[in-house]
Amino acid sequence: MFSWLSSWLPESLPRLWLWVASLAVTLGLFQLTRLLARRQKFLQALKSFPGPPTHWLLGHANEIKEEGGLDTVVSWANTYPCAHQLWMGNFIGFLNIYDPDYTKAVYSRGDPKAFDIYGFFLPWIGRGLLVLDGPKWFQHRKLLTPAFHSEVLKPYVDVFVGSTKVMLDKWDKKIQSDKCVNIFPDVGHMALDSLMKCIFGRSSENQSQSDTSYCQAIGKLTLLMQQRMAVFHYHNDFYYYWFTSHGRKFLQACKVAHDYTDKVIKARKAALKEEEEQEKIQGKKRLDFLDILLGAGDESKTQLSDADLRAEVDTFMFEGHDTTTSAISWFLYCIALHPEHQQRCREEIQEILGNRDTIQWEDLGKMTYLTMCIKESFRLYPPVPQVYRQLNKPVTFMDGRSIPEGSLVSLHIYALHRNPSVWDKPEVFDPQRFSPENSSTRHPYAFVPFSAGPRNCIGQQFAMMETKAVIALCLLHFEFSPEPSKQPIKRLQLVLGAKNGIYLNLKKLM
Ligand code: HEM
Repeated sequence: MFSWLSSWLPESLPRLWLWVASLAVTLGLFQLTRLLARRQKFLQALKSFPGPPTHWLLGHANEIKEEGGLDTVVSWANTYPCAHQLWMGNFIGFLNIYDPDYTKAVYSRGDPKAFDIYGFFLPWIGRGLLVLDGPKWFQHRKLLTPAFHSEVLKPYVDVFVGSTKVMLDKWDKKIQSDKCVNIFPDVGHMALDSLMKCIFGRSSENQSQSDTSYCQAIGKLTLLMQQRMAVFHYHNDFYYYWFTSHGRKFLQACKVAHDYTDKVIKARKAALKEEEEQEKIQGKKRLDFLDILLGAGDESKTQLSDADLRAEVDTFMFEGHDTTTSAISWFLYCIALHPEHQQRCREEIQEILGNRDTIQWEDLGKMTYLTMCIKESFRLYPPVPQVYRQLNKPVTFMDGRSIPEGSLVSLHIYALHRNPSVWDKPEVFDPQRFSPENSSTRHPYAFVPFSAGPRNCIGQQFAMMETKAVIALCLLHFEFSPEPSKQPIKRLQLVLGAKNGIYLNLKKLM
């Protein structure tokens, strides 16, 4: 069968090598045929949706890579209304949508996650809520939803206040030598610290060195994953993990993250074993996140397997701190650029708190102007700029165009939030867009920082509470202004990151 190959190879080549080479060529050809067939399927599915020109091999990878990629998509959105083809390498094509009606048509249904992308998460966060689909997702979501009930969340305000004060003290010390501070890493430590205390029951480790290593590992993992998406030949697991330094770095960072989460699980299991702790749980009206995960007080015996438990811990550790870090950091940047809104928020907070320097649950609902500013900052800087689905049935959109079952759809939240057919002067920071009157007339799928439909963010109330509490304290203690010599560079790394951090000038107020 391979006589053509043997005539072509040197005679001295041992027979075994000949077979190995033949096998490799055959597998290569098989893989190429599969890829071409797959490309053809995508082309057919996306035929009603033109898109920007593609590189013959890389698709749009170079244009959407990390820095600048988000704004490139916004400029494409101006040329291609509602949606366009988006190619991550020339063999994997998505319908990239940024229109409210299109968003509603897909995201109100709860189609599964696009495994071509979410599969990259597996060695890191396993099959937790973010990656799961079908009945198992439903079971986990139902099990964990009570952990985000407002009665469980209420006491967390004190934790947010405590962790924020540690961060403010840090800033206080830092500005004694330099008023210009890179706020991003400090916000990251604070957010991780709060999360650990709220949902993983850590008593205190106040933003320690092990937290720093974990935060750095998460930063690496999110960046490597984002880069992997755009580079098509990295999509194959075998090639990626065995033959690229990129893949090896990913596994090393996974190890750092897992060592940290293992410690968390172990510590909490040990604490649970103690009788006292058990009694406390039985006396509790509502179980918190870790109680539920560890099956405490669970009469129906739906206790999670060790692998499920580990996946949920890894999922929530990542989702629960990286997103809020981005949210709070970009908010502080926005408000630094707009001193008039900053001052109005500060006055609102001072009025609510009087001469208290701490915050309570009841205060958060009264911070209406601050909430408008937070929403406007989430519009311009959505902490999660893009999410992906694979359709489990066809969709026909309002304009009559349709797309078949099995197609991949990317919701570009960043481009949707800057779509000029929805938002007047989309680049302008204007909190009035979120006044009750203006919000009531807007399409319900025009503003979706927490995604929408059944697969929306389970932690959104937690995230809004934390964002408000932390920012309120920051604004009471410091005045923030931009540092013109250090403009932040937006970088997509699953969440919205900042390439060189976010440097702001801080002036102490109290
Ligand atoms: C401002 C902060 C946050 C933003 C903007 C945000 C945004 C999002 C978005 C857009 C999704 C959909 C992801 C997708 O479809 O791939 C999501 C899902 C999720 N988020 Fe959040 N999130 C935030 C904070 C949190 C927090 C604090 C937690 C946990 C404590 C959390 C836990 C989750 C989980 C577990 C999912 C998967 C839910 C499911 O598929 O059932 N998030 N989030």
